[in-house]
Amino acid sequence: MSLDRVLHALAGGKPYFPTGLFGIQSAPERYIYMQATVHLLAQIRRGQPLRILEIGSWVGASALTWLDALDRYAEGKGEVWCCDLWEPYLEVPPERAAQALGPLPAEDVGLAMDVAARAGVAQALFDYNVARAGANGRVVQLKSDSGKVLASLGGEQFDLVYIDGDHRMGAVRRDIAEAKRLVRRGGIVCGDDLEHQLHEVDEAFARAQTTADWLVDPKSGQGYHPGVTVAVAEGFGRVSAYGGYWLMRRVGDGFQPVDLTGRPVHVPAHVPVDADFSKLRPTI
Ligand SMILES: C[S@@+](CC[C@H](N)C(=O)[O-])C[C@H]1O[C@@H](n2cnc3c(N)ncnc32)[C@H](O)[C@@H]1O
Repeated sequence: MSLDRVLHALAGGKPYFPTGLFGIQSAPERYIYMQATVHLLAQIRRGQPLRILEIGSWVGASALTWLDALDRYAEGKGEVWCCDLWEPYLEVPPERAAQALGPLPAEDVGLAMDVAARAGVAQALFDYNVARAGANGRVVQLKSDSGKVLASLGGEQFDLVYIDGDHRMGAVRRDIAEAKRLVRRGGIVCGDDLEHQLHEVDEAFARAQTTADWLVDPKSGQGYHPGVTVAVAEGFGRVSAYGGYWLMRRVGDGFQPVDLTGRPVHVPAHVPVDADFSKLRPTI
């Protein structure tokens, strides 16, 4: 039986985000802020189709969020270009990789992603979810390293560039530099997993973590992605941030914070949100 038919049977023909594969990768409320961003852009662009470039798509939760927002706020006009490797990218130590032969530890995101990518399940699930959302014609798939893909996009311009790929410092620096070049004036550069801004953490410690994906900040005692924290600060200074989702708007050749207060709150159908998000407010 083909993987697509298995997925179809498991998911009852609907988009499918299995918990074991960390199908919903971000804190659910971040998808609400992403939708509010599209609401803002749709107002600014007044009926023009919106072009969105996403770096890091995994099994499609963020891509379907953009598509849902385009339907809701932009009369369905626009497209989402999705860049992902859909291949293992975090170095999983051999002793942990061996665990993949048995049940996966529920908390090990890196290992689950490694196994799913290696088996081709991640890309199959992305394809399946895009098809089930009826979005085939509005998604452009760019399967390669973001460094190569973004550099090859030449003079393309996007209304929104979303950065959620490799969270290590060098990769985020590179993705931000390309995003600044590829976003049109008035457009938005945004991203995921900014748990803390640089002024909130031990800066010297953060700057030394050039190869880390995630670790604990000695100053606050909390987990964060040092590569995202450092690269965002270098690229923009302090940014507007909502629960780990950050965004900046290109004004002229510079970038300014964005206030999402008062924007509509909508939870996309594929994202389970149990908290009350009746208001959007900046968090840091
Ligand atoms: C955190 S996940 C993305 C989650 C997704 N945005 C969502 O909310 O559903 C990170 C993704 O980045 C991809 N990735 C990692 N390194 C990459 C690279 N160099 N180029 C493109 N994609 C990359 C991984 O394959 C993975 O799917």
